Amino acid sequence: MIQTCLFPAAGYGTRFLPATKSLPKEMLPILTKPLVHYGVDEAFEAGMDNMAFVVGRGKRALEDYFDISYELEHQIAGTNKEPLLDEIRNLMNKLTFSFTRQNEMKGLGHAIYTGKTLVRDEAFGVILADDLCVNENGEGVLAQMMRIYERYRCSVVAVMEVSKEQTKSYGVVSGRVIEDGLLMVDDMVEKPDPADAPSNLAIIGRYILTPDIFNILERTSPGKNGEIQITDALKTQAKQGMVLAYKFKGRRFDCGSIEGFVEATNYFYEKIYGKK
Ligand code: G1P
Repeated sequence: MIQTCLFPAAGYGTRFLPATKSLPKEMLPILTKPLVHYGVDEAFEAGMDNMAFVVGRGKRALEDYFDISYELEHQIAGTNKEPLLDEIRNLMNKLTFSFTRQNEMKGLGHAIYTGKTLVRDEAFGVILADDLCVNENGEGVLAQMMRIYERYRCSVVAVMEVSKEQTKSYGVVSGRVIEDGLLMVDDMVEKPDPADAPSNLAIIGRYILTPDIFNILERTSPGKNGEIQITDALKTQAKQGMVLAYKFKGRRFDCGSIEGFVEATNYFYEKIYGKK
């Protein structure tokens, strides 16, 4: 029912310098697949077929990844290497990919606003590809959120419990429990001082947003770090109507950090090759 998944992908990925000097952070591989590929898999599994990217300068590799590489394909045609492209070819056959450019870095809220031209006037998913999510024995996080959206028809953010100290790295929400694992949001703060955090529920990089968020973003002033924050816009949306916070089932790797990236690599290595 929701067709579009937006991938804000304009950030520099400075924690992975010098690698990210010429390689978009979303292209860093966990084993043989770039991070962004895992995100697209998750959106596809949730039933979305329009993948929309907000990119910045130096992110051409993302566009090329979701396009045919004639020279390479010609080289490996008929060899035992050819099946290595099956997965990405399958995605390319089933999905559409569109791109727009954010020319100034003014925050996640601004990046999402920039994606407006790629999103029809309907609800859409958002994946921050450096949060890699898995759910071993069930559906992916975005698919779980789709079920919530289908029932409540409002914006949904995925949250997880973190230590009080860690709240300073996340958008933090508080609210009233309306069902097991589901809260109606009443407050949201972007990267609070741990002493001021309204709870220990941190937003991870998965959102379903209703399209009125664009009007709200247009009127949202810069917040934390002088950037336009999606967290602030969602707080307005929660006050005007309803926003839900969903404690997702599964595991999230913070692949924006070296530690999380290595954990994800080990996890998939063990899963795929059965080794530690
Ligand atoms: C962004 C959001 C933050 C959220 C986080 C999840 O922050 O602004 O609210 O908790 O993603 O990964 P960033 O990590 O891009 O600074």
